Amino acid sequence: MATGLNTFPPGFEALVIGGSRGIGQALVAALRARGAGRVWAASRSPAHGAGVADGVEPLVVDATDEASLAAAAAQVKAAGATLSLVVHTPGLLQDARLRPERRLADIQREALQRSFAVNAFAPILAAKAFVPLLQHGGPAVYASLSARVGSIGDNRLGGWYAYRAAKAAQNQLIHTLAIETARRSRALICCTLHPGTVDTELSRPFQSGVAAERLFTPDEAAGHLLKVIDGLGPDQHGRCIAWDGQTVPW
Ligand SMILES: NC(=O)c1ccc[n+]([C@@H]2O[C@H](COP(=O)([O-])OP(=O)(O)OC[C@H]3O[C@@H](n4cnc5c(N)ncnc54)[C@H](OP(=O)(O)O)[C@@H]3O)[C@@H](O)[C@H]2O)c1
Repeated sequence: MATGLNTFPPGFEALVIGGSRGIGQALVAALRARGAGRVWAASRSPAHGAGVADGVEPLVVDATDEASLAAAAAQVKAAGATLSLVVHTPGLLQDARLRPERRLADIQREALQRSFAVNAFAPILAAKAFVPLLQHGGPAVYASLSARVGSIGDNRLGGWYAYRAAKAAQNQLIHTLAIETARRSRALICCTLHPGTVDTELSRPFQSGVAAERLFTPDEAAGHLLKVIDGLGPDQHGRCIAWDGQTVPW
């Protein structure tokens, strides 16, 4: 049986971590358009993004910080929320201090640690904070945005050591979570999602080789991802699912 948005209660509540920009911001808007009640939009600086829209509750959280996640979860709980859907979106590919490695000589411990903190540790720490707030007994989804480049079997190009390895670790952590939650409830689906290449700050420096029809707007990506979430069922539990519904090989 699928666990889609249609199986959630009317006016269901959702939480998007990373809801201020990029795919996460588009997901917040798409969820409101699909009949969600309150949508919590969590990021380090929510005020400039989706936090201003009607029905959207901004939430300040640093997803790499356990105490910050715990405080945000306590705030959501105190507001009486029963969540049907939690989507974790933050990811880190490059910034002022981090460049995707082309070769072994580019590897730096600090870059590996920062990449793992955002791409691998944050999704499972967010699960620790927010999975207990997902509705018990009814259909619910915890999804975390990963990337196809985290697939070990699909890695033919090399490079991007930190991002690839951290996304592979993210997939393993969420797969392990899925095994644990299945022992308590078959109504909760946990998975990672590959959004395809999406025109956001994260991908902008790397879009030159991408065919125009394969570069999605954040709104298109949000539509694809909600369609995937609509079709989730036991076969997708613990897997990495791409924007077109295909399972990404480990
Ligand atoms: N774009 C692509 O082509 C593409 C392809 C494959 C996979 N992905 C994956 O999809 C996900 C979303 O990517 P995107 O392109 O939408 O990224 P983005 O445009 O860089 O947006 C990232 C969002 O996460 C938030 N964020 C970052 N660090 C955070 C932290 N420590 N705590 C809380 N929030 C944090 C940001 O808000 P603040 O900065 O305000 O906190 C922002 O809302 C990532 O996991 C990425 O790896 C993207």
